[in-house]
Amino acid sequence: MPEPTPETLDEPVTGAPSATPGTGDARPRYRTQPVSFVRRSGRLAPRQQRAWDAYRDRYLVDVPRDVARTSVDPDHVLDVAATFGRDARLVVEIGSGQGEAVVAAAEREPGTDFLAVEVYAPGLAQTVLRASQRDLTNVRLVQANAAEVLATTLPAGSVDELWVFFPDPWHKSRHHKRRLVTPSFAALAERVLRAPGEGDDGRPGGTLRLATDWAEYAEQMLEVLDAAPGLRNVHGPGNAAPRFEGRVLTGFERKGEAAGRVITDLEYVRV
Ligand SMILES: C[S@@+](CC[C@H](N)C(=O)[O-])C[C@H]1O[C@@H](n2cnc3c(N)ncnc32)[C@H](O)[C@@H]1O
Repeated sequence: MPEPTPETLDEPVTGAPSATPGTGDARPRYRTQPVSFVRRSGRLAPRQQRAWDAYRDRYLVDVPRDVARTSVDPDHVLDVAATFGRDARLVVEIGSGQGEAVVAAAEREPGTDFLAVEVYAPGLAQTVLRASQRDLTNVRLVQANAAEVLATTLPAGSVDELWVFFPDPWHKSRHHKRRLVTPSFAALAERVLRAPGEGDDGRPGGTLRLATDWAEYAEQMLEVLDAAPGLRNVHGPGNAAPRFEGRVLTGFERKGEAAGRVITDLEYVRV
């Protein structure tokens, strides 16, 4: 069994499949790939706890786990229409943090469904609090590692827009392997984004939107995503996008601006 490293460590779930000799189950107990997040204390503020207790069932999508607390059983495929109780455009936000962007967008666009993917419990609770205060019916949350949600949980071609706003920059070079936006992420984004319609249904493909306040990460994103065969940079190779007007100012962006960093937006379409 591989030993967990700081990059792969996450709490194993009780009863998770393990590499127990003689059981025929060869799956390791821990993740074998680095994850783009660290385990942080999941303590909720009293207001968050109250919202979580009252509205968790309404907003949180329950997914079966694999080896770790934030993993998803790779055999589980989300029934999106059943989850939202209708068929509608689907926007997925990866690393939704405190939920500012996803909740504001869901309030603005009641005809669209929004799925927030986040690992950090207080962030999820804050998102539940915001959504419940507005009585939103078009938001759901999943507490899981986004890479797994994109790889197996979401059906291929099910997403109209995929948002990644201010992913952790992991700015030290020895931590770059933990960055979310890598060639394998590009392939996962291609997988979930709706392909362009053919014939009479000549709709453009789904859209990938990103934002970062870390210039060197913006360069990496451009390099990786410009090279992805199934994605086209809407603003031309090597170019950033104008600020996405559907993106509200979050605490992370405010902090980046206060530190004098330039915000870069990127926009790709599935081809
Ligand atoms: C720097 S914060 C930005 C939050 C938010 N997008 C914003 O702009 O305010 C990055 C967030 O991504 C989450 N995150 C990092 N890696 C993740 C992963 N693999 N799956 C789900 N969430 C992740 C972190 O927990 C954190 O809340």
